[in-house]
Amino acid sequence: MLTQKALLAASRTSRLRRVVTGTAVTRRVVDRFVAGETLTDVLPVVSALSGDGIAVTVDHLGEDVADRAQAARSRDAYLALLEALAPLRLGPAAEVSVKLSAFGQALPGGHDVAAELVRPVVEAATAIGTTVTLDMEDHRTVDSTLAVLAGLREQHPATGAVVQAALHRTEDDVRALAVPGSRVRLVKGAYDEPAGVAHQDRADVDAAYGRCLATLMAGGGYPMVGTHDPALITLAGQLAELAGRTGDSWEFQMLYGIRVQEQRRLAAAGYTVRSYVPYGADWYGYFMRRLAERPANLQFFLRSLVTS
Ligand code: FDA
Repeated sequence: MLTQKALLAASRTSRLRRVVTGTAVTRRVVDRFVAGETLTDVLPVVSALSGDGIAVTVDHLGEDVADRAQAARSRDAYLALLEALAPLRLGPAAEVSVKLSAFGQALPGGHDVAAELVRPVVEAATAIGTTVTLDMEDHRTVDSTLAVLAGLREQHPATGAVVQAALHRTEDDVRALAVPGSRVRLVKGAYDEPAGVAHQDRADVDAAYGRCLATLMAGGGYPMVGTHDPALITLAGQLAELAGRTGDSWEFQMLYGIRVQEQRRLAAAGYTVRSYVPYGADWYGYFMRRLAERPANLQFFLRSLVTS
């Protein structure tokens, strides 16, 4: 637990960022979780997954930009990504995920900046028959992100939300979001949150996840079950059956490079499965959160430093 907290704190530390990203060997470990740095790297990954019957949501890595110009570059990167996805003609099977902090959300007046800069991305996605999902970052961003979502959904109702079972508020948020037309990705939550706002025990997070999942499956929206947890994967299948859902009315989502065989197994069993595929040069924060989720990843990383 201490390691996890330390890694999550380190994910926001610029000095350690320089050390980790400056280590040549890091690249090998990063490649397990990140599909390269450029569009040229990520497009074959998208095509290969799609060939295996797995849909994708592509994330251009980046978060916490320093100024508006950098935020505008995030918008441009997503516009280029959607332009590159268009000829693949995958429609909703290739959507994109965005972090509003990459669009300036944390800057002064950042809510409006992010709302303005993300809109053309959502319009471009709609134009090629696909969707955008707004990732959720730490608890201080939730109100702003859900407000941006509500604004986007007026013209683009299929814009997706992410909710984190770890936060106490999420059971209410889920009830509000479980309505027809609404796409909601439920995850456990990847940020180190204070006890006042979030469950601290894994068992409490898992129980809250189960309750939120039940609400989503029984509701009118499109649940996106974002987890690699075997118990929750089984529960999702059971709740979907109980709610009389057809296979095209909900989906599983997992991260690129994590439980790959399970992703293939579920797809082969006829479930809709979507892989969250991150790419880009700014992989540090994403990578550190993946290390924090599983001590074995940290051991693998440290071993590769020593044995290189
Ligand atoms: P849990 O952590 O209990 O893991 C269950 C099992 O999965 C582990 O035993 C292990 O086998 C495997 N596993 C999980 N993580 C692993 C890792 N890093 N490396 C190797 N194996 C691993 N969070 C957030 O706060 N905001 C967001 O927008 C998103 N978006 C998002 C999209 C998608 C598609 C997914 C799947 C997840 C997210 N997350 C997220 C991350 C999420 O909050 C959570 O941190 C991770 O999914 C890990 O939790 P699990 O539900 O997988 O369970």
